Amino acid sequence: MSSTSTSAAPAEMSTTDPLMLVDVDHVRFFVGNAKQAAYFYASAYGFQVEQYSDLTTGSRTSAQYLLTQGNIRLVLETPLTPNHPAADEIRRFGDGVKDIALTVLDAERAYEAALRNGGSSAYEPRTIADQHGSVTMAGLQSYGRAVHSFVSRTGAYALPRVKQGGTFAPGFAPMGHFALNEHNRKHPCGLKFVDHCVGNVEEGKMNYWVEWYENVMGFSMFKHFDDKDISTEYSALMSKVMASGNHLIKMPINEPADGKKKSQILEYLEWHDMTPGVQHLALRTDDELSSVAELRRRGVDFLALPDSYYDAVWGRVDAMLRKHGHEPVKEDHQRIKDLGILVDADDEGYLLQLFTKPLQDRPTLFFEIISRRGSQSFGKGNFKALFEALEIEQDRRGNL
Ligand code: FE2
Repeated sequence: MSSTSTSAAPAEMSTTDPLMLVDVDHVRFFVGNAKQAAYFYASAYGFQVEQYSDLTTGSRTSAQYLLTQGNIRLVLETPLTPNHPAADEIRRFGDGVKDIALTVLDAERAYEAALRNGGSSAYEPRTIADQHGSVTMAGLQSYGRAVHSFVSRTGAYALPRVKQGGTFAPGFAPMGHFALNEHNRKHPCGLKFVDHCVGNVEEGKMNYWVEWYENVMGFSMFKHFDDKDISTEYSALMSKVMASGNHLIKMPINEPADGKKKSQILEYLEWHDMTPGVQHLALRTDDELSSVAELRRRGVDFLALPDSYYDAVWGRVDAMLRKHGHEPVKEDHQRIKDLGILVDADDEGYLLQLFTKPLQDRPTLFFEIISRRGSQSFGKGNFKALFEALEIEQDRRGNL
């Protein structure tokens, strides 16, 4: 993928740039039942169910659970009343991601800068504070139902404190005894941070959202694929990858492309009330084989590729690595095959990746488990094999 990287060196970023991103603060899911979803993500994916906010802590409108693993923070939220805005979204979309919330130095200034750049508001800045500190959040509307909250924190709620187990925000309480947490500490899944977050948008709208991330958020294009890269005989998509100035987060944007059969992007949209949204979160691990082995032990359902994938993959990957003077894939090839892990290489090195099946009943959101050994791309060499595997799944769902 050597010639397709269009990312310039990160623009000079100063701490006076209000849109300088400090971290992915959290990813907020709207779910039908947060208490039960917390068990699922803890049991299947090894998250710690760390804190909660519900009727017992004084929250009368929604219940929230903070799940953590490495530097990943998921907030699972469910409405407690029918007129809560999340209730209508769950009716329309099922469970899924609502908000990729980004830590900044000053949420209000970041929000105002984004609005000046042409963005529109999802919600006005609001601050919750107590004697220990404050959390300010302001919402920027992104594609479809997706929102980026800007989050700034002070005092006991500063992000470094939260990372060490400090209270997430006023109103949250520690879980106390939760047996799965102990199990997960003993049997880690090794997930470290959100590597990238992919959005599906409507046909013909990819370039609109690419420009939106450039103009409103100050992102730049990182990689580019077209439907020649990502197509099978039957279905296709187009994808461009946007990256924040400091490459803290990458946001690939997919749109459906014409094919003889229905693309996976169109399938997503049709089960998502024809509304754009987050398709997958890629979670980074340093050790793909250990992570996937542990996730499989826990019963995670991954997309299966035909054995024939492994007939061709080593030749393709090793040739690419040799051509660019990199060491061959060091992980045990037979174990990679046994675990069903996918491999791809580019001019910078290789990556290991694997995709889960949908995380809920609708064929919408899924996870990717990814480990990088130099490669900064997204597994282009696997797209064709993956699409063929996905088409088998789409066909089983009656959606091809
Ligand atoms: Fe991905």
